[in-house]
Formats: sequence, C-alpha cells, structure tokens
Amino acid sequence: MASPYRIRPMKGGDIAAVSALEQEIFRDPWPQTAYIQEVLFNSEAHYFVLESRPVQRPASRWLWKKRASRRIYGFVGLRANLEPGHISTLAVHPAWRGHGWGELLLITVLAEALEIGLTNVTLEVRASNWIAQSLYRKYGFQVSERKSHYYRDGEDALLLIADITGARYREQLATQRQRLREKHVSVLAS
Ligand SMILES: CC(C)(COP(=O)(O)OP(=O)(O)OC[C@H]1O[C@@H](n2cnc3c(N)ncnc32)[C@H](O)[C@@H]1OP(=O)(O)O)[C@@H](O)C(=O)NCCC(=O)NCCS
Repeated sequence: MASPYRIRPMKGGDIAAVSALEQEIFRDPWPQTAYIQEVLFNSEAHYFVLESRPVQRPASRWLWKKRASRRIYGFVGLRANLEPGHISTLAVHPAWRGHGWGELLLITVLAEALEIGLTNVTLEVRASNWIAQSLYRKYGFQVSERKSHYYRDGEDALLLIADITGARYREQLATQRQRLREKHVSVLAS
C-alpha cells in the first residue's frame, strides 16, 4: 500500500499554506516574504513540505488549488549557501506530532545535505525546546554555542552542529527513513 502522504520540495504555490502553519506554530514566525525569498530567489535553499495526497484530483483547477492550501502538515528548510549548511526551520502541525513526521522531515534535509556534499550542518533551537533537542540529538547534533537573548522574547538559543560524514551516518539515515516509511504505511493499513 502506497502512503497517501509524501515529502516533496516546497514550491511557490505552497508558500501561503506554509506561512499559515508557521504563524500557528512559532512564537516569532517568519513573515511570508522570508519564504518567498528562500523558495523563489535563493538557489541554495532546499525546502520541503509534508503533504497529504488527494485520493482523486478534482476536475476543477480552482478547487484543486483551494484544497491544496489545506494539505500541508509540515515543512523543513536547509540553506546550503555555506559550509556548514544550516537547517533554518522544521515544524509539524500540532495534530500530526509524535508519529515520526518530524524525524522524516529532518532525515530528508540531512540526506539532501549529504547529496550536496556538505560535511557539517548547524541549526538554532530554543534553550527550552527539549522536544526538538531530543530529536536533533538522535542525529548527532551537539551544542556548539549558547546565543544569549537570541529570540525576540529574550530566550537564549542553542547553536547545534552535527558532523554528517561517514558511512555509518549515511546508513543510519537510510535505515531510519525506511523504518519510518514502513511504520506510516502499516499504521494506515491497520
Ligand atoms: C520538533 C517537532 C518538529 C517534532 O516533530 P514530531 O513529528 O512530533 O516528532 P517525531 O514524532 O518525528 O519524533 C522524533 C523524535 O522527537 C522527539 N520527540 C518527539 N515528541 C516528543 C515528546 N513529546 N517528548 C519527548 N521527545 C519527543 C523524540 O526524540 C523522538 O524520537 P523517538 O520517537 O525515538 O522518541 C515538532 O514537535 C514541532 O513542530 N514543534 C514545534 C516547532 C519546533 O519546535 N521546531 C523546531 C525548531 S528548532
């Protein structure tokens, strides 16, 4: 059974839905223009969305577009302009959390970083965000710096870095990706 969900590159047409989700999830959300800049004008940006695929494509193009705006449940971004690469965002719709989608999105950008030839990847995370930190630790991220009052509300950020080189790392990504895909398919089938 094929999964009705997929992770695919973010397109211009996804920006409104991604922005709406961003506003819902983050305390200091990016403005929509940030996504426009990243997705449409930064050739070194690699953004992906988690979407549910419609069972059947409606005949009307208008209806197709309208429904499309409700089908995005998560997203992730990687900037590869510099080495190390930088994971700029990661989020899953609150109702979809705890089922491995966040991990699958993270694996997607880490695999993309490897494909591009990056050797290290960084990201910032709120000091209080232990759920995300736990996910990042699973993939070798370690604290490299604490950025004091980094966020607008005064909270500190932890700058994390992971060395993604090595055959074992690559293997871990492939194995986990396969395991999570099988899990999602079996949950849907049950
Ligand atoms: C962080 C986030 C993307 C995780 O997405 P998710 O789909 O719920 O996570 P997954 O189900 O893939 O879980 C992967 C790992 O995350 C951690 N995790 C997820 N939910 C957790 C919870 N409730 N308690 C503790 N750890 C948790 C665990 O390490 C888990 O691995 P495990 O299953 O082996 O225990 C999601 O919580 C989110 O969107 N949060 C708000 C936005 C955010 O904080 N983004 C990160 C910005 S740096």
